Amino acid sequence: MSRVPVICVDGPSGAGKGTLSLQLARSLDWHLLDSGALYRVIGHACWSQGIDWQDEAAVVRMTRGLDVRFEPVGDGVAVWLEGQEVSREIRSERGSRGASAVAALPGVRIALLNRQRALAQSPGLVADGRDMGTVVFPDAPLKIFLTATAEARAQRRQAQLMEKGESVSLPRLLDAINERDLSDSGRSVSPLVAAEDAVRIDSSELSADAVHERVLELAAERGIKARAPN
Ligand code: DC
Repeated sequence: MSRVPVICVDGPSGAGKGTLSLQLARSLDWHLLDSGALYRVIGHACWSQGIDWQDEAAVVRMTRGLDVRFEPVGDGVAVWLEGQEVSREIRSERGSRGASAVAALPGVRIALLNRQRALAQSPGLVADGRDMGTVVFPDAPLKIFLTATAEARAQRRQAQLMEKGESVSLPRLLDAINERDLSDSGRSVSPLVAAEDAVRIDSSELSADAVHERVLELAAERGIKARAPN
């Protein structure tokens, strides 16, 4: 497997993985893999091409030929599917449902393995997901399992949606988070579990900056270095 250093950031939805991964990729000057966005794009592509999320053979066929591109922008990553920007669509509640449905298909996960591993390029990769440390990059030198209470996660999700002008009630978001946790942890392939060698961090009471600092300390302790400035 690749010798390029990888920091895995796994955990349930809304624990702050996306923010942490982006901060790490910036401060280390590393590449970033948002694997959830891959599942979201697949769910979205199924919806727009009229493919049933449960039709595994058809979803796998589409996944193999998927033309998806990630492009760093100001405060995140823009996602392009077949030449069309879909960053906003894939983050909707429908996008989340589709992602969770296709992520439960074993063939889809297998079809995405090489695509994800190919992103481990010099000087390093921050990989954000659910199975980064357990399946995709089992040899990674640093694995973080980031958690937070369901309530804290629902509140953060509500704030994110409100920023985008979408309003969803807290109880509904809490239900959706609990339902998604259950499906992500209960599925037979790559269920959401912490790798044995992962460091667990509970972000419920921590600021994003405090979590980022803690992970940079862990990286330094393990001899993982940021690229020297030019
Ligand atoms: O991280 P996210 O909310 O964007 O992920 C969207 C969905 O994809 C979520 O239901 C979990 C699933 N997922 C997964 O099964 N494996 C990954 N490595 C990343 C996400």
